[in-house]
Amino acid sequence: HTGMFTYDPGFTSTASCESKITYIDGDEGVLLHRGYPIEQLAEKGDFLEVCYLLLYGELPTAAQKKDFDYRVTHHTMVHEQMSKFFSGYRRDAHPMAVMVGTVGALSAFYHDSTDITDPHQRMVASLRMIAKMPTIAAMAFKYHIGQPFVYPKNDLDYASNFLRMCFAVPCEEYKVNPVLARAMDRIFILHADHEQNASTSTVRLAGSSGANPFACIAAGIACLWGPAHGGANEAALNMLMEIGSVDRIPEYIARAKDKNDPFRLMGFGHRVYKNYDPRAKIMQQTMYEVLEATGHSDDPLMQVALELERIALSDEYFKEKKLYPNVDFYSGITLRALGFPTTMFTVLFALARTVGWIAQWNEMIEDPQQRIGRPRQLYTGAPKRDYVAVSKR
Ligand code: SDX
Repeated sequence: HTGMFTYDPGFTSTASCESKITYIDGDEGVLLHRGYPIEQLAEKGDFLEVCYLLLYGELPTAAQKKDFDYRVTHHTMVHEQMSKFFSGYRRDAHPMAVMVGTVGALSAFYHDSTDITDPHQRMVASLRMIAKMPTIAAMAFKYHIGQPFVYPKNDLDYASNFLRMCFAVPCEEYKVNPVLARAMDRIFILHADHEQNASTSTVRLAGSSGANPFACIAAGIACLWGPAHGGANEAALNMLMEIGSVDRIPEYIARAKDKNDPFRLMGFGHRVYKNYDPRAKIMQQTMYEVLEATGHSDDPLMQVALELERIALSDEYFKEKKLYPNVDFYSGITLRALGFPTTMFTVLFALARTVGWIAQWNEMIEDPQQRIGRPRQLYTGAPKRDYVAVSKR
């Protein structure tokens, strides 16, 4: 007996930390980063500005922004030895498997930014991670599709640079479409942080032991992969493709409501939002823009998604349980139109969430109340008993 504690499976009512980074009002569908509404950041800001805001607490001045962009830009290269890691994987490996391994390996390359007690080293590690994630994600993509790696081009903005590393091919000129770059940037903003979700809590828990930041982010990537979390964007598009046409929607709605059927509507429901996820609205708008810019305005999957949402939102089951589309519902159609295969969707989520993970990790390290994370348990196993020799069992 070591005293009293509360039993809270899934941490539905336990705050694990204090945080000044992100605020969510799940009943009203409100999301603020450092006090700024996500709608305003997505419409008026750019991703690196949001990174600065999450890391430092304030929007940058023009000079601070210029300096920050420059510093991120000059960390985009990865050590050349890193490219050897990729060729160790099968070409058909899931890119998230490649991400877990390669990002985890970063700590083997950047020994000068793993001392977590030094604020300067922590910031260098943070910038490195934000800067190198697009390069590593694009390398995972290129390896996956059997093309040579494209090196970062640092006079481009963050999103354009990423799109170029993914879609440029040797001997052909590649010009980034600014509408698509803006959409990519906005998708990054929408995924940047979301307070104590499963992967962020994983990063904090890993970091609470004093592990280095690269290892902690690899832990976050592993957690994000699951279909109940970041893997939902891939699962949602696979679901829309499986449904295939509007007339099959009622069958899937019925399955989602059936307690004996494990099927759930992917991209629907949320632990905190009991209202429309504000990110899903902006994502839907971004979807329209990307479909138009890529000539896919008549995408039949968009019709399936819109009709699925309409039917679900007018259904008693979904109303009663307050299940609404989340950020992952419309992202798949948008990312597919941008040219990504479904297997890359969660990688893009990881790329964007890296700043949230690293900002939360820094906040935790600086928190004087921080102690190693150590949940308790309710033991329900056998009582004390004596060992029995194998001949007597
Ligand atoms: C993300 O936490 C974050 O902030 C995460 C995230 C971020 O930015 O970090 O927002 C990103 O992970 C978004 C969520 C992506 N996942 C999905 O879209 C997968 C489908 N949705 C779910 O499985 C589910 O809604 C969760 C995982 C998102 C939330 O799980 P909870 O809070 O544990 O809720 P639950 O599974 O216990 O559901 C409550 C009830 C259940 O019915 P009852 O047992 O009470 O009768 O609602 C039902 C569930 O069966 N339900 C659904 C459903 N989601 C919940 N029924 C059908 N379809 C669904 N999608």
